[in-house]
Amino acid sequence: MSLTEWEEGREFPPKGTFIEVVEVGSRDGFQIERDFIPTDRKIEIINGLIDSGVRYLEVTSFVSPRAVPQLADAAEVMAGIDRSKGAYLTTLVPNLKGAERAAASRADAIVIVCSASETHNAKNVNRSVAGSLAGFGEIIRFAHDAGMDVVGGIGTSFGCPFEGDIDPQAVLDLAKAYADLGARQVTLGDTTGMATPPTVRRVVRLIRQELPDLGIRLHFHNTRGIGLANVLVGLAEGVTLFDSSVAGLGGCPFAAGATGNICTEDLVYLLHESGYETGIDIEKLVKVARRTQQVIGRELSGQVMKSGQRLQLYDAGAVSTAAG
Ligand code: COA
Ligand code: ZN
Repeated sequence: MSLTEWEEGREFPPKGTFIEVVEVGSRDGFQIERDFIPTDRKIEIINGLIDSGVRYLEVTSFVSPRAVPQLADAAEVMAGIDRSKGAYLTTLVPNLKGAERAAASRADAIVIVCSASETHNAKNVNRSVAGSLAGFGEIIRFAHDAGMDVVGGIGTSFGCPFEGDIDPQAVLDLAKAYADLGARQVTLGDTTGMATPPTVRRVVRLIRQELPDLGIRLHFHNTRGIGLANVLVGLAEGVTLFDSSVAGLGGCPFAAGATGNICTEDLVYLLHESGYETGIDIEKLVKVARRTQQVIGRELSGQVMKSGQRLQLYDAGAVSTAAG
């Protein structure tokens, strides 16, 4: 397909459109850190994000603490979150036990996970794709009875580090299975940053065409530096929900070569500068990103927290002149 064909009849959402930025740093980011981040530091960062205007968060995972020790404090973290501002809290769960723990923590939604790649699904949750799907009906029924929404997570949607390219039909099949089971939203995970503009376009377009009522969240990693370019392609295809991690934290411990998610404040900067609304105060968000870097104790990949915003001007007198 030529670029012109793609552009034809396709418009970015009008300026002023609200784009939902879904913060996943305290789940996708913290899970990969080697040293345990103290629970109160995690809560401080999450509450800072909520204070800066973030309303949709994937807070933590109710998974086996042996599989992901970093998130063993999921219930304590949930209990410490400021819910007075109406934040919508999702948690990742791999099985019914996880869903029960999420309900006990009064999560608003659960994200259940299955990969489009058999190999990654086996590494991640120790099951075949069919095995995962077989268990989802019970989990979704339980969640709905407990008043929780369900988001269908589709890992390795745009490529698998073990299997390579993923057939978009496999992603559609999973999305359809989730929709048939009653999920109203899917999140297409680019687990190790293999998505490219053409693959994003192909997969999103296929799902929107076949399942027009299903909400799509896009979950990009910036492994190869083109995460925000992929966001623009998603926007042009009509997607208005994007996952990102504060300061650029992130990665899957069960996928070779995983690195950070796209960075929340860089995404918010892009969206604001392009005329979209997010409800987020970027100055406050940048402070939380810098604090996150301090807590993690090493340099993180976020750019705007280092450079400041575009119109943050400098005093010319304070910078030396090259030709003395
Ligand atoms: N919460 C807490 N503990 C759990 C749990 C959950 N949701 N699910 C299982 N466990 C515990 C079991 O109680 C059992 O503990 P025990 O050995 O002390 O009795 C142990 O974990 C193993 O349980 P089992 O059902 O045999 O699972 P498994 O070994 O086949 O592992 C998963 C399957 C899905 C539980 C595990 O692979 C997992 O938690 N994966 C999460 C992966 C992840 O978060 N990836 C990153 C995000 S995409
Ligand atoms: Zn991820």
